[in-house]
Amino acid sequence: MSTAQIPDILSPEFAANPYPVYRAMRESAPLVWHEGMQSWIVSRYADVERVFKDKEAQFTTDNYNWQIEPVHGKTILQMSGREHSVRRALVAPAFRGSDLQEKFLPVIESNSRDLIDQFRTTGSADLVHDYATRFPVNVIADMLGLDKADHTRFHGWYTAVIAFLGNLAGDPEVAAAGERTRVEFAEYMIPIIRARRENLGDDLLSTLCAAEVDGVRMNDEDIKAFCSLLLAAGGETTDKAIASIFANLLMHPEQLAAVREDRSLIPRAFAETLRFTPPVHMIMRQSAVDVEVTGGTIPAGATVTCLIGAANRDENRYKDPDRFDLFREDLTATTAFSAAADHLAFALGRHFCVGALLAKAEVETGVNQLLDAMPDVRFADGFDPVEQGVFTRGPQTLPVRFTPLAA
Ligand code: HEM
Repeated sequence: MSTAQIPDILSPEFAANPYPVYRAMRESAPLVWHEGMQSWIVSRYADVERVFKDKEAQFTTDNYNWQIEPVHGKTILQMSGREHSVRRALVAPAFRGSDLQEKFLPVIESNSRDLIDQFRTTGSADLVHDYATRFPVNVIADMLGLDKADHTRFHGWYTAVIAFLGNLAGDPEVAAAGERTRVEFAEYMIPIIRARRENLGDDLLSTLCAAEVDGVRMNDEDIKAFCSLLLAAGGETTDKAIASIFANLLMHPEQLAAVREDRSLIPRAFAETLRFTPPVHMIMRQSAVDVEVTGGTIPAGATVTCLIGAANRDENRYKDPDRFDLFREDLTATTAFSAAADHLAFALGRHFCVGALLAKAEVETGVNQLLDAMPDVRFADGFDPVEQGVFTRGPQTLPVRFTPLAA
């Protein structure tokens, strides 16, 4: 493909299969200016890694002022320096260590089990509709101590938020739906936050109300914005991750059999899924100064789109990058869920995903329980998974069949 023939990121051809386009960009257009998106685009692993790590303080996350603030309000993603580190220290402990293991693991296990119980005896399920789109958002609702009966509203809200974030073509209806979500979510959440402050419990929302670092606490608006971010950042992403790990394993039956036999392989299968089919395909930054990258100079003050989906398949970084192989030696599963990761699905640097260990706990629990419930799981006859989405991406539907276990 010559540079002139590379399909546009906003084209249907790209949405159908971005991977050949990513390859062409890495090879012959590693830095491109996209007029429609008003953004520079980088696609090679080394360039995306360098932007995320940002060792020389050349980039900011000011892009989130327009990309996300209109729907969430101001969140941790936009913050930098001390403001960011204080805010991160307020929220991070809930997503790792003893809080995660002791308080939230039982919540994860019971939410997964409840969903599987709905189809355990039927012999068929759609792993996207019946499981993946419900499990992570139910977990977050439960962690926050919200009413899971409001699931449909949560799902509607986070879908609208992610659509706003990924509104690369600037569709006014998508923008309006995102802004409506901000109003509706505040109307729902602020009274709950006020009531919780009066009556603190053991849930994450109470922890956020009470958390204090260096004399700093979060006000109602800050907490509402963070909860909105959690639903979107922790719902849609993990939902896609669970669907993708199953699609990848079902398409590679020998690797599925290996995981079924040895469950300690799940983190490797998840890490390889994050590399091969990342839930978030692109993340943006803003350049603070002129920056040299492969292929040219990004001028100061520009929006930069980092193509995670392209970088994670860079042939200069991974051998045979278009092959799903949980046994590959050039990806480290032990560091895959920390800022020392050698894939880019959680970004790297200061904004490295704060929920990575929660996502890992959800995926490990989910895959274990699903494999236990579905001993001979396979795709429904003739089914081939189809990925959907440009900004976030994952299988649209995953109909499976299995022999139910005797009660
Ligand atoms: C497989 C699942 C997940 C993926 C692929 C993912 C991806 C990402 C990425 C790429 C970023 C960096 C954004 C940037 O640098 O601009 C990020 C940040 C973040 N993620 Fe995740 N995420 C996942 C799960 C979760 C979960 C379960 C939660 C929490 C419930 C969560 C909460 C957050 C938060 C709060 C941030 C902002 C951190 C900061 O700005 O310091 N994520 N995530």
